[in-house]
Amino acid sequence: MPLIDAHGRRHDYLRISVTDRCNLRCLYCMGDEGIEQLSHSDILSYEEILKVVTAGAELGISKIRITGGEPLIRKDLVSLIERIAAVPGIADLAMTTNGVLLPHYAAELKKAGLNRVNISLDTLKPDLYRKITRCGELKEVFKGIEAALEYELQPVKLNTVLMKGVNDSEVIDFLKLILEKPLHVRFIEYMPIGDHDRSYVDHYLPLSYVEETANNAGLTLSPLPLPGGAGPAESYTIPGGRGTIGLIHPISKHFCDSCNRLRLTAEGNLKACLYWQDESPVRPVLDNKKALQGLIREVLSGKPVEHQMAADGICGSVKPGSMRGMSKTGG
Ligand code: 5AD
Ligand code: SF4
Repeated sequence: MPLIDAHGRRHDYLRISVTDRCNLRCLYCMGDEGIEQLSHSDILSYEEILKVVTAGAELGISKIRITGGEPLIRKDLVSLIERIAAVPGIADLAMTTNGVLLPHYAAELKKAGLNRVNISLDTLKPDLYRKITRCGELKEVFKGIEAALEYELQPVKLNTVLMKGVNDSEVIDFLKLILEKPLHVRFIEYMPIGDHDRSYVDHYLPLSYVEETANNAGLTLSPLPLPGGAGPAESYTIPGGRGTIGLIHPISKHFCDSCNRLRLTAEGNLKACLYWQDESPVRPVLDNKKALQGLIREVLSGKPVEHQMAADGICGSVKPGSMRGMSKTGG
């Protein structure tokens, strides 16, 4: 029986956070002091992660994304990639990374079976990059992007969270990136995730802003047909584009009705929705595959029909949802 929730949504996608730690500390993801980190013994081992992947694959999970924190700071991540890629039924294996360590690992990751990467990049200005990430060097990310292209971890996607007053003046520069390189720039609406209400209220901007800015600059976005399983992004191109532009609107046009994803947090909790607090620990059932599969179905059966992030935006204060920041949930 495939994994279908109470709202008829078929689930074939598992996002796995392998660590809550990161070598950057992006403003919207972590507080000043960083975050309270999990201890090593709290984090699922690779053996434990493999058990969840194997049980899930038998239920129809075919797509896996490795996230964090920053996955590449976890020791020997390449060996996990290799083992997940070998699980029967896993057809698509991707990773979300800040890209800084990709020059070291891209070749090995490709060889191990990683198909593609999404690289987080919110600005093309070195000073602003240092400010947003609190310590990052933009040129390191660009080396990472080059490595991803060179080793064909493709399509190479860039995740760009649009933030009013922070990077909204760079929309055209991001669009022009796809004229130079075969990159897929995906603008993402800022989500009220974690304990960052004020910042959300100050910086949220709907992605209609990207469309208007592109039109005004004569770079009209032409819609592309979505390849199967392309996820929630609406895809566009611009004249002369070697890559594509994606618009992901979790707030202004949420895509919950086509949600196909489950999440596994670094400490081993299954979550059916990024937003809501509900989560269930897998550790107690890891040694019993039937029980583990029962738990996956149970978590799915309680999946809410949609998130309430737009309502949070309107209220701007009280949040019934999860207070976990992205680094604690898995982006
Ligand atoms: N809103 C939108 N995207 C976010 N990310 C992290 N926090 C947020 C947020 N509040 C994105 C990062 C990265 C991925 C892991 O999740 O930009 O690309
Ligand atoms: Fe799916 Fe929850 Fe994301 Fe909506 S917020 S798309 S229901 S995971």
